[in-house]
Amino acid sequence: MDVPVSPQEPELVEHRWFKNEEPFELYVRRDLFLPNRVTALYVQGAKEVIARFPTPVRVADIGTGQGPICTYLGRREDVTFVDAVEPVEAQCEIARRNIAYHHLGDKVRVHHGMFCEPLNGDAYEIIVADVSGIGHQVAVNMGWYPPGIPTGGPDGTEVILPLLASAGGYLADGGYMVITVGIGVSDHEKILAAADEHFGGRELVAEQTFPLSAEAMSMLQKLDDPFLQHITRRGTRGTYRGEVYALSNPRNRD
Ligand SMILES: C[S@@+](CC[C@H](N)C(=O)[O-])C[C@H]1O[C@@H](n2cnc3c(N)ncnc32)[C@H](O)[C@@H]1O
Repeated sequence: MDVPVSPQEPELVEHRWFKNEEPFELYVRRDLFLPNRVTALYVQGAKEVIARFPTPVRVADIGTGQGPICTYLGRREDVTFVDAVEPVEAQCEIARRNIAYHHLGDKVRVHHGMFCEPLNGDAYEIIVADVSGIGHQVAVNMGWYPPGIPTGGPDGTEVILPLLASAGGYLADGGYMVITVGIGVSDHEKILAAADEHFGGRELVAEQTFPLSAEAMSMLQKLDDPFLQHITRRGTRGTYRGEVYALSNPRNRD
């Protein structure tokens, strides 16, 4: 998979996701998927789970995009190594550039591919699953997904459901898969039902409410996706929610 536009030069952008931390720099191409507030929410959930382990953990970052999560976690001392997976080659290139920029070449590997398929035999204490999980019409019309970046299909479940069914076999004993559901922007009930089918444990570890402008609300009102009923309206504006879950005790370990 690749993007159908001429490549733009990557820019070095400063990210500051947490008030008590120093900012860190990442290369991004603005015509690719840009790290955003949901990226930071994922990282918050992952940090909460990593802190439960007494020794450094092995991490898989599925759907790494331009590499924000693998770069951020790769810089931490409580992480041994990160294997990142991404199907869009142009995004893999930027992710690798970020790894090199932060001198993480011996700790973080970026694999071109889908789901957990490129992972070759390691087990992970943490699998961060930040794959496309927003309904297609919302993802494209909100401008969150540029051309060439695969979306989560009509209801945002097409990538996360097969990942939930297959990822358990890549977890180490006592490991966690970290997922985020977007309430109001995907069929979150279907995703949580699949999570409960494939994992014995599900715990809310982080959550955040995100604002929607009057302009966004007026665009969303023209769409007919049933899950949009879960958006909270506040006058002409609205909000949707992101909930991060740590899934444990996979039932599908073969
Ligand atoms: C919501 S974006 C997150 C990207 C990045 N983690 C970030 O926060 O900027 C979802 C990513 O999942 C990737 N993706 C889509 N289908 C996938 C699949 N089958 N396996 C792995 N990644 C996939 C997309 O290409 C996209 O880069």
